[in-house]
Amino acid sequence: MNYVGISAGFHDAAVSVINQHGDILFAGHSERYSKKKHDQNLCADLIIDALSYATFPEIEYHYYERPWLKAVRQFYSGEGFRWPTWNQLIGPTYDFLGRPDIHTHSHHLCHAAAGFQTSSFEEATVVIIDAIGEFDTVSIWDVQYDASGRAQYKKLWSQQYPHSIGLLYSAMTARVGLRPLDEEYILMGMAAYGEPKYLREMQEELLSPNEKLKFSQNLHVGVADDFLPNADPMDIACSAQLMAEQLIRNVLGRARGKGRSRNLVYGGGVALNCVANRMLGDYYERIWIMPNPGDAGNSLGAACLGYGRKVAWDNSFLGHDIPGDYPVNAVLDHLLTDKIVGVASGRAEFGPRALGNRSLLADPRGHSIKSQVNEIKRRQKFRPFAPVILEEYAADYFEMPYGFDNSRYMQTIAPCYEPNSFPAIVHVDGTSRIQTVPSDGSGIRELLEKWYFMTNCPMLLNTSLNIRGEPIVNDRADADRFERLYGVRVCS
Ligand SMILES: [Fe+2]
Repeated sequence: MNYVGISAGFHDAAVSVINQHGDILFAGHSERYSKKKHDQNLCADLIIDALSYATFPEIEYHYYERPWLKAVRQFYSGEGFRWPTWNQLIGPTYDFLGRPDIHTHSHHLCHAAAGFQTSSFEEATVVIIDAIGEFDTVSIWDVQYDASGRAQYKKLWSQQYPHSIGLLYSAMTARVGLRPLDEEYILMGMAAYGEPKYLREMQEELLSPNEKLKFSQNLHVGVADDFLPNADPMDIACSAQLMAEQLIRNVLGRARGKGRSRNLVYGGGVALNCVANRMLGDYYERIWIMPNPGDAGNSLGAACLGYGRKVAWDNSFLGHDIPGDYPVNAVLDHLLTDKIVGVASGRAEFGPRALGNRSLLADPRGHSIKSQVNEIKRRQKFRPFAPVILEEYAADYFEMPYGFDNSRYMQTIAPCYEPNSFPAIVHVDGTSRIQTVPSDGSGIRELLEKWYFMTNCPMLLNTSLNIRGEPIVNDRADADRFERLYGVRVCS
């Protein structure tokens, strides 16, 4: 039996495939194939790629939420009532799939399964925080495997719409002129440039006076245009980040009080806030965040629920394949001569971050590299780039937060001990969004080892390989377009 998980119909459509042994055969995003950022529909090329890894006709389909329950919530939230059909939710590819029966699961349960069943834990407290699925916006679970190895999920507590930390963050993203459900990561980056001048005002205006995790207004519709008039956007960002962190701390405190385990599995879109994630170790000893904890990752969660047991998690290189050996020597040559080079090789990353297989890499040393890479990426100059570092040297350069021995998927930030030596990969607050690479036989590992041997520098600058405004490069044709547009070699 093969278990195909689907998330589609809202944003960031994705497909995941697990086989009867618990191997994750494929996990990929629709946007990488359709070239539409955050594409909500499945596309035929993604389906064809995903199902090429499956065994026909033994396929069971699983969907990432309860569409009919969500329709009720949408009616309740004033979005009108529309009885959902699979053709609407999945699009024409539903017919392409042969109109199969599809099992549905609750949105937060899928987040919980995507996290727990990919973790190494036998038992854990699972905390899910996102914007909105059906009704739950925060949930806390006690999860363990039973004697037969099947995951057993017990929900301990939840909070419902419209009281949502994710919607607060999205509302503030919109307030500073950014796109909600897309550019929250930019708001997070802006926060380091501001002061929390409006924290108290935000709390008094937006929070319920009586209940700590509830809001006095529905932030699904955003805040009024005249909310905090004349405020500096950086100060709004800083205040919003701090307010969100205080609310997340409240959730973590509840989870510690209600759950039995000292292992934390954390998921939902808010788990992408790597700045807030630095404080998870204040509450838990061991932490796992699946590298795609948002709604696209729920396709894997749905497939995990179909399979029911622990799955074999090796890494996030689960998407489209560009065949061939990792071009270590070619990348190294370009780094030593040009300082900047692209790489598009092997399976694409499942998740919003490029981790070495669809990356733009650069020498992180010196003061000119940040502006050079920014020139190619054409993005806001205040935003830093991330380092990718040999895991055994991470503690020499970065103060890893408690609970994180590693950060293999850029899940957290860490203060850098030598910010002046590596200005391109250090944010204005002195921290870096770090990616550590273990000795795992990956191409990026071999590249870093050789780079270190030749330069005595164990890290590189790593940013996603994408044309401005487009999703991350998927196939070789995308890489060729990147080369033509920006004049930067992309090695395969
Ligand atoms: Fe979600």
